[in-house]
Amino acid sequence: MGNIKKLKSNIVNNIAAGEIIESPSSVVKELIENSIDAKSRKINVFIKDYGLKNITVKDDGLGILKDDLKLAFSRHATSKIFEKKDLNGIKTLGFRGEALPSIASVSMLSAVSKTSAKSAIEIKINGGEIKSFKKASSVEGTSVKVENLFYNLPARKKFLKNESKELNKITGVVKAYALCYPSIQFKYIHNNREIYNLPASNLKNRIIDIFGKRYSNSIIKVDYLKEDYKIEGFTGNMDLLRKRNVNQFIFLNKRLIKDSSIAKAIRNPYLSAIKRNEYPFCVLNISMPYDSVDVNVHPNKNEVRFKNQQHIYHIIKRSISESIKHIVVASPSFYSQFDRVDESQIQNNLDFRDQLLKEIPDDIQKHFVNYQKFEDEKIKPESMDEIVENELSQTYYDINDIWQIHLKYLLTEINGGLLIIDQHVAHERILYEMAKDRVDKNGLESQTLLFPQYLEFEDEEYSHIVELYPYLNKLGFRIREFGNNTIIVESSPIETPFGKELEIIREILDLYIKHNEISSSFIDNMCATYACKAAIKAGEKLESQEMKHLVNRLFFTKNPYYCPHGRPIIINLTEDELDERFERK
Ligand SMILES: Nc1ncnc2c1ncn2[C@@H]1O[C@H](COP(=O)(O)OP(=O)(O)O)[C@@H](O)[C@H]1O
Ligand SMILES: [Mg+2]
Repeated sequence: MGNIKKLKSNIVNNIAAGEIIESPSSVVKELIENSIDAKSRKINVFIKDYGLKNITVKDDGLGILKDDLKLAFSRHATSKIFEKKDLNGIKTLGFRGEALPSIASVSMLSAVSKTSAKSAIEIKINGGEIKSFKKASSVEGTSVKVENLFYNLPARKKFLKNESKELNKITGVVKAYALCYPSIQFKYIHNNREIYNLPASNLKNRIIDIFGKRYSNSIIKVDYLKEDYKIEGFTGNMDLLRKRNVNQFIFLNKRLIKDSSIAKAIRNPYLSAIKRNEYPFCVLNISMPYDSVDVNVHPNKNEVRFKNQQHIYHIIKRSISESIKHIVVASPSFYSQFDRVDESQIQNNLDFRDQLLKEIPDDIQKHFVNYQKFEDEKIKPESMDEIVENELSQTYYDINDIWQIHLKYLLTEINGGLLIIDQHVAHERILYEMAKDRVDKNGLESQTLLFPQYLEFEDEEYSHIVELYPYLNKLGFRIREFGNNTIIVESSPIETPFGKELEIIREILDLYIKHNEISSSFIDNMCATYACKAAIKAGEKLESQEMKHLVNRLFFTKNPYYCPHGRPIIINLTEDELDERFERK
């Protein structure tokens, strides 16, 4: 007598209905879950051609009895729950008894399994029909091979995204389970190339094995206990912030979940220190009583419903803020100024600014006191590029006095008014135009780094960075491959502040993955990203010569009034306006 039983129809009707196999990655997910439920210590995942040709998951778990093997492939047959009340406290990853039959109905599948007591048995099923069932030889455990997925459903196959995206999704699944179960050994191979070979370990080592050594100093332990809730894992320091929310792994009672409210709770404690579109790294295991959460919400079993959503939100938020309270306080404060402004205030400021902007005449530089001198210089047969390159100590506008206030705005007098210039966006505009211009030609000038920088990537990212080489090169980054998904950055664009190189490359990579192609808008954005990162920040003190130089270069750009992101660079307070305000008129 086996362990697997057909669920009675009254339970079947209580199981959230629906399809579960939509792509190769859902096959991988279901098979890995089964291996984990079977208490495996070792799971091997072999993929051929992005999973469409072959997905094999082999484990060393409990195995399936001969009497159970056919039943395992019929609908709603499971060894994991028996009665309706079991749905209220599901401890295993599977419970629907749907995965194996669903996979078998859309592929050519063969499975070999052996329990400790009995000999191995093999079953072959094509498109849902059993083709053979016989004794086999194998070690203990189960191996399921899924070939030619969707061969009988060409319509579904057509809907799959491009191949590298499918592989990334599969890698994402393996990565997530490997993080959730660090004590299980995982091997993951695509087309004979080993992507992961992860020895059984603890969570910290598992994170380092997956993401690279640089994570070892950048992850912060989370260990929080409140009532029946336990929150454990690691959250990331500021240097692991990403522009896409790709590195957030949340497990609830050892089940991978997606939950926007928990994601918000994790991000909330960082808010005073991060920008609007940045996300922290995080791997969190949440343990709570099985009956305070319902996992039977969606067939993919990723969505859950909490009995007390609000309560969970606060506990998670508290667990993170306790862990990071030392790092967030220490981060630079000027970011937070932007985030704390409330909407109504921004609106008011904008109105005021608009009014001022209208006052800016078109060729404002002509109002500089000695415009004539500048005109004369321009007649020289030097190109713009050469001027910008050779300028160094030369000033084109004889700016008499210039002041820096609050370490971020420059003030200077022009005929008939007062100019206020935002130093960061002014520099950003200059660098942006220069980058755009040079990327089309022979590239930005590069400076050799005294200490070459190493940058390690995850597999899926590495292939993208290779595609980006020529473009990064044009920007002035000289890069060499170093093996093991690592690159060496040997030189950087001439105006990059030391230490910013890796951040710029990483952000450009994120941008590229988002755009998913090299297009003119990607090139634009790449130049804007470089300009924003390399530009002088608010908070940096400038010498008088530097300020004059900056303003001069600004007026050589095609559009000195707005930064690449559309923020204004210059505000002009006219003499008339000042007179009016002081009631001289
Ligand atoms: N790798 C495995 N090792 C041992 N038993 C397995 C394995 N995969 C599946 N089974 C058995 O087959 C049954 C059906 O699997 P599945 O269709 O995924 O449904 P569920 O996981 O929801 O029970 C499981 O309940 C389990 O008893
Ligand atoms: Mg299952």
